[in-house]
Amino acid sequence: MNTQILTENQVDQAADLLRKGNLLGLPTETVYGLAANALNPQAVESIFKVKGRPSDNPLILHLANPQWVHRYCINIPDSFWLLSKEFWPGPITFILDRNQNIPDIVTAGLDTVGVRCPNHPLALAVLEKADIPVAAPSGNLSGKPSPTTAFAMYDDMNGKIPAILDGGACSVGVESTILDLRTTPVLLRFGGISVEEIQALLRESITIDPILLGKEEESSTPLAPGMKYRHYAPQAPVTIVVGKNSASWIASHGTKGDGVICFEEYTSLFTHFEVQTLGKETHFTEQAQLVFSALRYFDGTTVSRIWAQCPKAEGLGTAVANRLQKAAGFQMITLEDNT
Ligand code: TXA
Ligand code: MG
Repeated sequence: MNTQILTENQVDQAADLLRKGNLLGLPTETVYGLAANALNPQAVESIFKVKGRPSDNPLILHLANPQWVHRYCINIPDSFWLLSKEFWPGPITFILDRNQNIPDIVTAGLDTVGVRCPNHPLALAVLEKADIPVAAPSGNLSGKPSPTTAFAMYDDMNGKIPAILDGGACSVGVESTILDLRTTPVLLRFGGISVEEIQALLRESITIDPILLGKEEESSTPLAPGMKYRHYAPQAPVTIVVGKNSASWIASHGTKGDGVICFEEYTSLFTHFEVQTLGKETHFTEQAQLVFSALRYFDGTTVSRIWAQCPKAEGLGTAVANRLQKAAGFQMITLEDNT
């Protein structure tokens, strides 16, 4: 099977593929998704097969608008309406109690479901046209960095799925934030909407799942099951270096030909390296747009190790830092400020 690239005037064809139980590469504002009709268990099963995804890792349900939650969720709290009014369509997924009409395979047997309304005109057009909820994990093979262009997804999925709808480069570039709203709000994944932005709208404090801060022993259960898997990793091992002088430290400790992910300000230090820039040090929006393509780039090179600078854990920088840390398997060198 050759994977076809569909363009924006082929939305009807894309919706038709989904309705008929086929898989589709779907552009969203965060990353490309590997989409299937969520109400068709065989179609959903093929997502797990094609991606090589463990079956205990549930999928997010993508909806055309907030009203659709009445179809698929129960016990919907006021906080959902407050937050979805502000952030949907957009890069945030809410965990709610699920209705029984969702096949078990979507939720990996959990009583809850993650719902999200994506902020991409083609994704919304496909959802409306197909008039079905769409289950979609990120469109990479399990463990690899998420795809932020149709071509990155094609690299992983060519020959495995019938079509990818090309919606251009993703404007956010990291996956959605995941927030469990069933009791007091619990953050399960850093993503496209920052904790600070959400907290500004809520009276209750958001709890951050300890697993996100590297304190797995304090987390009662892995609340977002996907967080326990190795993620986003290029073939060559990644080491993060943090500290005021991280760029010059990497330049003097790295070897000619190593891979480097650095902020734009420091590229001139790395003339003998394979360099991917992350944008300016304080420009988190740009870093989010670039981080996955930077990580994916190195798989097409012969580098045997990759050094990375890492943004501050602040606003959207927290999500970028988290993706880099996971790509590095939390391998990190912290420099004293006087080194
Ligand atoms: O931005 C995104 O969210 C992208 C685009 C395609 O929408 N999707 C995405 O899906 O990142 P995926 O499957 O790569 O990551 C979904 C995460 C996993 O860590 C999964 O464990 C968690 O969401 N998740 C899904 N349903 C859940 C549930 N009911 N309870 C807790 N965690 C859940
Ligand atoms: Mg993923």
